Amino acid sequence: MDVLLERKSVRNYTNEDVKQEDLEYILRAAMSAPTARNTRCYSFLVIKNKETHKKIAQIHRAAQMILEAPLAILVVGDEDKAYEKYLPQDCAAATQNILLAATAKGYGSVWCGIYSNEERAKAIEKLFDLPTNIKAFSIVVIGKSTDNRPPKNGWDPEKTKYEKWK
Ligand SMILES: Cc1cc2nc3c(=O)[nH]c(=O)nc-3n(C[C@H](O)[C@H](O)[C@H](O)COP(=O)(O)O)c2cc1C
Repeated sequence: MDVLLERKSVRNYTNEDVKQEDLEYILRAAMSAPTARNTRCYSFLVIKNKETHKKIAQIHRAAQMILEAPLAILVVGDEDKAYEKYLPQDCAAATQNILLAATAKGYGSVWCGIYSNEERAKAIEKLFDLPTNIKAFSIVVIGKSTDNRPPKNGWDPEKTKYEKWK
């Protein structure tokens, strides 16, 4: 399977668990993401507790699929460690690696955005009692997919320019 081309956002799951060895692979991939000046300012909170999933769903309107899934990973960044304003880029790279690693191991996943929505970020940071320097970036929901639709085809030659814009 070509993981890069097969990845898609999945919003329907079975309740089958994510195997611990697969979770470790996914986290290893997350921690292999590049960071500006190699600050490795990201951390990952693995959330399996269904009560916590419910609380997240109450805060995050577009993360209702978490109610079906066995697991979610909250990606956070440490503002005190990040280089300049690169925290969101670092956390985005880690988030994408999680999606790709989950795909590689046969799981569906979806990136649920937090960082740019201040109200949502504050509510999630409060829910997990995060220190003020730790910023909630995204929640990735992961599980066995029941969605058989093919991935979207993003290929568009017009999006590539060679050497010059015009
Ligand atoms: C920054 C960001 C935030 C996103 N937030 C959500 C979200 O809150 N809920 C959701 O269901 N999907 C979310 N998505 C997934 C997008 O909707 C999805 O990637 C897009 O529709 C393209 O579909 P694909 O991932 O299947 O290619 C987010 C994606 C990104 C990159």
